[in-house]
Amino acid sequence: MTATTSPVLSPHQSSAVISAPGERFRAARRQTMYLCQPLTPEDMMVQSCAEASPAKWHLAHTTWFFESFVLREFLPGYRVFNADFAWLFNSYYESFSAFPEKRLRASFSRPGLDEILRYREHVDEAMERLFEREPEAEALRRIELGANHEEQHQELLLTDILNAFYTNPLKQRYREQGTKGTREQENREQGNAGTKTQPLGFAEFEGGLREAGHAGGGFCFDNELPRHRVWLEPYALADRLVTCGEYAEFMADGGYRRPEFWLSAGWDAVKQNGWRAPLYWSDSEGEWNVFTLRGELPLKELAATPVSQVSFYEADAYARWAGRRLPTEFEWEAAVESQPVEGNFLDSGEFAPVPSTNLAQDQNGTKYYGDCWVWTSSAYLGYPGFHPLDGTLGEYNGKFMSGQMVLRGGSCVTPVRHIRVSYRNFFAPETRWQFSGIRLAK
Ligand SMILES: [Fe+2]
Repeated sequence: MTATTSPVLSPHQSSAVISAPGERFRAARRQTMYLCQPLTPEDMMVQSCAEASPAKWHLAHTTWFFESFVLREFLPGYRVFNADFAWLFNSYYESFSAFPEKRLRASFSRPGLDEILRYREHVDEAMERLFEREPEAEALRRIELGANHEEQHQELLLTDILNAFYTNPLKQRYREQGTKGTREQENREQGNAGTKTQPLGFAEFEGGLREAGHAGGGFCFDNELPRHRVWLEPYALADRLVTCGEYAEFMADGGYRRPEFWLSAGWDAVKQNGWRAPLYWSDSEGEWNVFTLRGELPLKELAATPVSQVSFYEADAYARWAGRRLPTEFEWEAAVESQPVEGNFLDSGEFAPVPSTNLAQDQNGTKYYGDCWVWTSSAYLGYPGFHPLDGTLGEYNGKFMSGQMVLRGGSCVTPVRHIRVSYRNFFAPETRWQFSGIRLAK
C-alpha cells in the first residue's frame, strides 16, 4: 500500500519500551500502517473466510475505537469524521449501536481507502489535541486499552491477509523474507535444510498451591483478573512446540482417519470439513507444501518448524496419539511465571514460526513464548470474582465466555509488548486460521 502519510516504524523499533501515552498511541498507530505497506488497495478489500476481516476494515475499526471511546467522551468539541462510521465500523458492541453483519465487511467498497486514511488522520490529529490537554485518568486508561486493541487487530490483519493470499490462486507472498533473512535460507546455507529437530524434552514442575492472573501494575485485560489461587498436581511441560515433521508423522499414522484419537466434536469437525492436514498444507504429487506469509514452502524444509494453524481438536488429537495431553492454562502460567518474555514475535520480522534450534537459547534452553499460541485444555471462563469493565467496554471480553478455549504465549505475529504471562487469548475449538500450535504436557 502506498497511500500513507504516516511515518514508518520498523518492527525492531516497535519493541522499545514506550511509556508516555502519546508515544504509546503513536507507536501503535504507526505499526498498523507499517504492516499495510506491502498491500494493494485490492488486497485490503478481501474477506476470504468467515473469521477474517478486510485490512481496510481493520484500519477503520481501530480508528473507530479511539473516536468512540476516547474522543467523543474526553475531547470537548470533538467533531466526528462521519456520523455513519459510528455504526458502520462497530464490530460487536450491542450497547453502543447497531452494526452490519460481519460477513458483509468485504462489501464496503465505499468508503474508499483514501477516505479511511483521512479518517485515521482526522482521529490522530484530534488525539494530539487531547494529549495537549493532559487527559484525565479514565481517558488514559481508554487510550491504553485502545493501543492494546489496535495491537490485537495488527495480529488479526496478518492472519487475515495470510488467509486472503492462501485463497488467491497466485499464492502471493506478503513479505519476500524476514528482516533477518529466511530461516529456511539460513538452514540451507548451513547445510541442514531445516530438518534437524531438537529432541523433545519435558521440564518437571512440583505443582501445589499457586496463584494465577495478572499481578502488580501495568495494563491487563479484565479477563486476566482477579488474581486467585489454583491447585496444581505435579506435571511436566514440553521444552518446545510440536514440529511440522512430528505432525506429519501423526498424519502418516492415519491421524485423520482414526476416531480413537479424537474428541466427539473434533471427529465431527474432521468429517464435516474434510480435514486431513493443518489449514495451509496442500499436497502435490505426493509432496506436502505449507503456505506462509513468505509464500509456499516445501514441508521438508519446515520439518523442524513448529506446526501452526491447527484447531484445538487437532492439537488434542495429536497429543492423544503421542501419549501426552495439552496443558491447562494454569500449568502453562505457573511454568512460565519466572521466564522472560522472549521468543519469535512480530518484532522479529520473521512473520512465521521458526525452528527452536534457530532461536537464541536462554539458560535452560526453553522458550515458552512466541511462534504459535498454545492451545490449552482450559475452557475460557471468568476467574472467581471476575467483573467485566463498566459500560459498553464490558462487552470487550466477558460476553465471549462460552464455548471457547484458552490459548497462551503469543505468536510470530503478536507484538512483543502486547504479551505477558497472564495474557489469555481465546478461540472456538474448531478455529484454524490463527497461528495456533501445540505444546505437550504430561
Ligand atoms: Fe476490535
